[in-house]
Amino acid sequence: MTENSLQESVRTIRRDLESAIAAADSTQEIEALRVRFLGRKGAVSALFKQLGSVPPDQRKAAGQAINDLKQFGEDEISRLISRHAATTTTEAAPDLTLPGNWPQAGSLHPLTLVQRRIKTIFQNMGFAIADGPEIETEYYNFEALNIPKGHPAREMQDTLFVDNGFVLRTHTSNVQIRVMERQRPPVRIISPGRCFRRDTPDATHSPVFHQIEGLCVDEGITFADLRGVILNFARQMFGPDMKIRFRPSYFPFVEPGAEYDFTCFICMGRGCRVCKGSGWIEISGAGMVNPVVFETIGYDSERYTGYAFGMGVERIAMALYQVEDIRMFFENDLRFLQQF
Ligand code: DAH
Repeated sequence: MTENSLQESVRTIRRDLESAIAAADSTQEIEALRVRFLGRKGAVSALFKQLGSVPPDQRKAAGQAINDLKQFGEDEISRLISRHAATTTTEAAPDLTLPGNWPQAGSLHPLTLVQRRIKTIFQNMGFAIADGPEIETEYYNFEALNIPKGHPAREMQDTLFVDNGFVLRTHTSNVQIRVMERQRPPVRIISPGRCFRRDTPDATHSPVFHQIEGLCVDEGITFADLRGVILNFARQMFGPDMKIRFRPSYFPFVEPGAEYDFTCFICMGRGCRVCKGSGWIEISGAGMVNPVVFETIGYDSERYTGYAFGMGVERIAMALYQVEDIRMFFENDLRFLQQF
């Protein structure tokens, strides 16, 4: 083989190399072309093998041409590798503007939300939070509240009895007695908590439900104070246009006793499905603490007067969120709970 024909082969391989470099655009393709041209059995080493058949006086120039080709190939391929690495790194870098994957977060139960709002409003009016037992003696749940054995009001309450004179409390009024036993007036508390009754569950009854009891005792407390506090609460909770009304009623531990209603906060009194057309939502009972109760716990009923009120948490939550079945609050269905 002459130097000339070898030089011709060098030029051909160089052109092949150049077009292969221009076409390669993946790591695998670059590696494949490196093996094809510069590998141990590649095109360049094949040229070196042919060098032996070139006449000795032409070998130097021919060898130089192959070495140049080899150098050219190495330079171009390493440039290609670094250019490719630079572009693929940019593509693979995380896009910091993409929204992340949020961990699933829980949320507060609707009854908790409503209870918290109610508590905050009363705390801002100076009421303290009091707690009491859910498993209660008949004395605190009934007798001390002027509901003696055999009193028809006991029958009304559908009590769940535990052993030995204990009951599951049927209301949060038990806390009134416990607070007054350990504290002299002035007393100003609310007591949120669970209550239990032997009710068959339906859209408006649940054997477990929540009440918030209120109690205020001091010298000179009147029904007007009760009315003012309830009205203030209604307006803070549902807006400045709220009205309240009291209807005469009977609860053994208050005298006079009443039931009280709020303007329906869905239709603002015009009448709708939630208030059954009446324009009012029944909240619970209230009244002036019966002097008999003061005598029982040892307050001077000549000196002190007070008011007490109840509040049904589910009733408020149902109207507020337009929940039509009380059982929804207790079924723990995520499709319901995730809406709050
Ligand atoms: N304890 C009553 C009930 O569960 C509600 C109630 C009525 C509470 C009148 C009071 C009250 O404090 O004065 O139905």
